[in-house]
Amino acid sequence: MGTRAREILGIDPAQLIEELNKAFADEWLAYYQYWVGARVVTGPMRGAVEAELNQHAADELRHAEILARRIIQLGGEPLLSPDQWSSATNCGYESPTDPDVSVILEQNVKGERCAIDTYSRLLKLVEAKDPVTYGMVLSILQDEIEHEDDLESLLRDLETARKK
Ligand SMILES: [Fe+2]
Ligand SMILES: [Fe+2]
Repeated sequence: MGTRAREILGIDPAQLIEELNKAFADEWLAYYQYWVGARVVTGPMRGAVEAELNQHAADELRHAEILARRIIQLGGEPLLSPDQWSSATNCGYESPTDPDVSVILEQNVKGERCAIDTYSRLLKLVEAKDPVTYGMVLSILQDEIEHEDDLESLLRDLETARKK
């Protein structure tokens, strides 16, 4: 990070890097949960659900990239080993041991709600202190809000389909 960029930062970069790394761990775990879920999912509307899970997986991976870039820009280092993900994560990981479509969607909705909480909290942390991170977190939060909505509508469609 350049000199002036450091001067306008109203927050301790080490604290910010730690928070961003926790979100970075969340994104990798969310990526994998979606990725593997898309492969094992079974039940009605499987095709539509698989496509949505794959789309979300791609978004979470993109979020991980955005976070890594900002961590490096702040002079930090993204977590270098997957071993660190489970201790750094805010939102954890739920193995899709039951491949039923509703169970997988419910697990992922839970993850998205945690992501929304995490990024809302991060947004408040950097508000008026780091406009660059603020803009970045806001764009990720918008995606997570869309993800929750996508999954909730799939669950509603599924319920309707099962009643028929
Ligand atoms: Fe994400
Ligand atoms: Fe998401």
